[in-house]
Amino acid sequence: MSKNIVIIGAGVAGLTTALLASKKPGYKIHVAAKHMPGDYDIEYASPWAGANYMPVSVGGTRPAKWDSETWGPLADLAQNHPEAGVHFQECEIHSRTKDLGSATATWFADLLSSNPWFAKVVPNFRVLPKSSLSPGVDSATAFTSVCINTAIYLPWLVSQCLANGVTFQRATFGHIREATAAGAHPRGHVDLVVNCTGLMASKLGGVQDATVVPARGQIVIVRNDAGKMLDVSGTDDGDDEACYVMTRAAGGGTILGGSYQKGSWESQPDPNLAIRIMKRAVAMCPALTNGKGIEHLDIIRHGVGLRPVREGGTRIEKEMIGDICVVHNYGAGGAGYQSSYGCANETVNLIEEALGPRSRL
Ligand SMILES: Cc1cc2nc3c(=O)[nH]c(=O)nc-3n(C[C@H](O)[C@H](O)[C@H](O)COP(=O)(O)OP(=O)(O)OC[C@H]3O[C@@H](n4cnc5c(N)ncnc54)[C@H](O)[C@@H]3O)c2cc1C
Ligand SMILES: *[C@@H]1O[C@H](CO)[C@@H](O)[C@H](O)[C@H]1NC(C)=O
Ligand SMILES: *[C@@H]1O[C@H](CO)[C@@H](O)[C@H](O)[C@H]1NC(C)=O
Repeated sequence: MSKNIVIIGAGVAGLTTALLASKKPGYKIHVAAKHMPGDYDIEYASPWAGANYMPVSVGGTRPAKWDSETWGPLADLAQNHPEAGVHFQECEIHSRTKDLGSATATWFADLLSSNPWFAKVVPNFRVLPKSSLSPGVDSATAFTSVCINTAIYLPWLVSQCLANGVTFQRATFGHIREATAAGAHPRGHVDLVVNCTGLMASKLGGVQDATVVPARGQIVIVRNDAGKMLDVSGTDDGDDEACYVMTRAAGGGTILGGSYQKGSWESQPDPNLAIRIMKRAVAMCPALTNGKGIEHLDIIRHGVGLRPVREGGTRIEKEMIGDICVVHNYGAGGAGYQSSYGCANETVNLIEEALGPRSRL
């Protein structure tokens, strides 16, 4: 007999989990979410991401395993499935000695290393010669990454799920219990709930996780082409600001970032921060405007997203909440895409453990 599963959340975590679970026999999967691909909302992080593959996980940890397992599937999409909206792009990581010990540089520790754990995972990893670096940059590495056009990729995930028989529904749950109530699954009773609620996990009844906090990211999306992906270890405008650029696949525009403002729920773009973001991007990547100023940037839109950061890292775990069997997959912070397949794989392993013929929670 097939098992009925409700997945709460249609961000990259919920959709990737639904896709991998839908490839296993015996599961009827229903995705219920307040926000769906196509929506732009401060409570929905996934559309705002760049998104690229640039691991900040520490070698030897579970997050590094998830990131490592995700490179293969993303590279396969870039290589063989152009309709997914993922393409390869050269990525440069610039380090400034003066950023040592800053919040961003500490967050980026493994990324800034000249021999990070992922050097053997991504193609073409290399240390750039000092002579090629711009003034103020003390060292740099480069590798082949991917950039995901989220406006194509999230709907593509939905289409793949629909083709595998997954069903979708708009629903806003006040409590996890509502996900198992009558009518919550089109097939009847619910055997298991998967919690992919992102930042809102902090507010969901039965699960309130106070260790999930926002790290606010402000971006500017422009029509100009950067030609490559660039990221620097810090800025001169404060610890919680960042500087990166990447050009999305298939005409998706170029993302200029950014910020990493922990604890801020502010949904509106800050115009002063937007100017700083554009000035830093043009200084780091003159190709954007042929060496000219920010008035030569052609803006598509300003945006703000909240990374769902969880102290202690992404939570992938089984739990009994009352008599409801729940598997959690939330709190990926700034790594939701680059860890998506590894996290979803582990989530599906836990679903199989919980629903398998011999084991119970
Ligand atoms: C500016 C910015 C840049 C980023 N860049 C990158 C990058 O380059 N690479 C990378 O890997 N990651 C990046 N990230 C991080 C990435 O966006 C997140 O880690 C990821 O989107 C989180 O996905 P999620 O599915 O967990 O959450 P979300 O996308 O927020 O989805 C949550 C889902 O749960 C639903 N939900 C929540 N509560 C309820 C409820 N009570 N009832 C019903 N539904 C509910 C929502 O409606 C939504 O469908 C970036 C983030 C930002 C903001
Ligand atoms: C899924 O997880 C299992 C258990 O950790 C691991 O052995 C397997 O390689 C993973 N599969 C993929 C495709 O990452
Ligand atoms: C999902 O996880 C979040 C974060 O812990 C939590 O607040 C919420 O209650 C959980 N929801 C369910 C239904 O388990």
